[in-house]
Amino acid sequence: MCGIVGYVGKEDATPILLHGLEKLEYRGYDSAGIAVRNHGDDPLIVKAEGKLTNLIEKVSGMTFTGTAGLGHSRWSTHGKSNETNAHPHCSDDHNVIGVHNGIIENYQELKDKLLRKKYTFYSETDTEVIIKLIDYYYKKYKIGPVDAINKALVRARGSYALGLMFKDYPDQVWFAKKGSPLIIAKGKDACYLASDVPAILKQTNKVYYVDDYEIGYIKEDEVRFFDLNGDDITNKKELVTIDWKADATDLGKYQYYMEKEIDEQPEAIKRTIDAYVDEEGFIKFPELGITKEYLNSLEEIYIFACGSAYHAGVVAEYLIEDLANVNVRCELASEFKYRNYKMNPRSLAIVISQSGETKDTYEAMMKAKANGIKTLAICNVKGSTITRDADFNCYTYAGPEIAVATTKAYSCQLAVLYLFTLFLARTKYALERDKYYELVNEVKALPEKVKETIKCKRQVQKLSSRFTEKTNVFFIGRGIDYAICMEGSLKLKEITYINSNAYAAGELKHGTISLIQHGVAIIAIATQPDLIEKTVSNMVEVKSRDGSVVALTTKDTEVEDSSKYQIYVPKVNPLFAASLAIIPIQQLAYYVSLNKGLNPDKPRNLAKSVTVE
Ligand code: AGP
Ligand code: GLU
Repeated sequence: MCGIVGYVGKEDATPILLHGLEKLEYRGYDSAGIAVRNHGDDPLIVKAEGKLTNLIEKVSGMTFTGTAGLGHSRWSTHGKSNETNAHPHCSDDHNVIGVHNGIIENYQELKDKLLRKKYTFYSETDTEVIIKLIDYYYKKYKIGPVDAINKALVRARGSYALGLMFKDYPDQVWFAKKGSPLIIAKGKDACYLASDVPAILKQTNKVYYVDDYEIGYIKEDEVRFFDLNGDDITNKKELVTIDWKADATDLGKYQYYMEKEIDEQPEAIKRTIDAYVDEEGFIKFPELGITKEYLNSLEEIYIFACGSAYHAGVVAEYLIEDLANVNVRCELASEFKYRNYKMNPRSLAIVISQSGETKDTYEAMMKAKANGIKTLAICNVKGSTITRDADFNCYTYAGPEIAVATTKAYSCQLAVLYLFTLFLARTKYALERDKYYELVNEVKALPEKVKETIKCKRQVQKLSSRFTEKTNVFFIGRGIDYAICMEGSLKLKEITYINSNAYAAGELKHGTISLIQHGVAIIAIATQPDLIEKTVSNMVEVKSRDGSVVALTTKDTEVEDSSKYQIYVPKVNPLFAASLAIIPIQQLAYYVSLNKGLNPDKPRNLAKSVTVE
């Protein structure tokens, strides 16, 4: 979950590492550090607790320069977020220095072994243990980094992306990976390593994806990969060109990424739709490689995802069942692995993930594969771990998403799911031709409608002041509106720390209604014409108990008598209402977060890419 960056080149490493860390700060931000080395000199290690700005401040007065280095922004798993536990960590004589993303599960057992070998420890981290274990094997066998890393890692359980520097190899930075993301980038007279692409986009867009159990090193003009046997596998690796623009991660006129990304949604959705719909309005999934026969044979679809991606999956559950006439089970990936569900052999498993790195989602996908089920990944990051192991891939074209709370990636996931549903429905002849084209046109019209919806910004900002002091908010809705409630509630809670909960409106009377009293805020989402009357009844029930109801509905729907405040989104086919209704909630969460003096981009304790279970 943390951010790792590494550099070897001709320039001073410090500003390059700090820039990379800034771009990766969304991955973890409770402390940060860098290690910089100038050829044979002793390295400089600087660490600071808290935000990256603390490290930048600390480094600013220093005159040390070096052309190789490592940087890390931490999302702590083992040990408090303080300076001692911050990375880089090192062996006591600085023979090995390293940064780590992940968890070494058997670190205590390895630590005990090293304690017996007279090693001492200064931090509470699992990372210090693995660095010192590498140091131990390096010195014991005297056979160089490849074998020392291999010997240590075959004894380590858990996940890691490691960046390492060895005293005897001053112009190289080494790496190893299992289960945590890591890329290597090649620029002009320089090579880089990083947890994710934004860290290196300013310098280069040429990237190698490191696979599990690979180790290697970067030099100013060379990248080498080795396998577990120590064999050189460099010529088997592919240098990939990333099509994201270098300025895609700049803030521009915005103060925060979240607002920028909310505003980017029309473009991002359009890019995604344009990738799959041709000029005649025909949906094509060229990268998909799924045959019509296979789609026709499907009896069931599983969707696995976490957080917001799961909420996009819940929308798809309604849609696919409605239009394509296939039963769907959308499951939380983090729970699916504990189930003994007998999967239908004539099924497809769809996994949805912005990052393509979410461990829970990856494991659910692998469980489906182990059951002989074909897997389709809907991901925003090409080359990510999930996309490399999925049978089929469909990409979202949201561009890099930096704010921890997803907005544009969720919206693009919805767009791909709509198109996949229509594609499947048409392939199975569950949809008449005319209806199919009508719905495709509705999807194509979404970017404009989203643009229109974004204009409610000021109205939502005004309304946001009513929520600043709230401690509890409930979202209610039925059908697809319930799926929107789930995402809306997560958005609000993750960046404002208000305890918000989503309820199927019909469930209110089964318990939650006992919490309704004067001042309690309810956001009722009512975009589904067939269900509006019933949801309105629930709103009236809340109003009668003095609750304060905000109705979120489509233009021309009559909700004024049953609610205190109203937010209207443009008229839209109810099947695609989530794409519009989520916008004001994203904005509401953003403004409430600002009202509370919080940083909406970096909510406490959360990381953008969750690579632990
Ligand atoms: C939502 O805003 C996120 N904080 C989180 O729930 C996210 O959707 C989830 O962790 C899944 O991430 P992924 O899409 O990268 O797999
Ligand atoms: N487990 C390590 C630690 O607690 C690394 C955590 C991370 O990925 O940032 O320091």
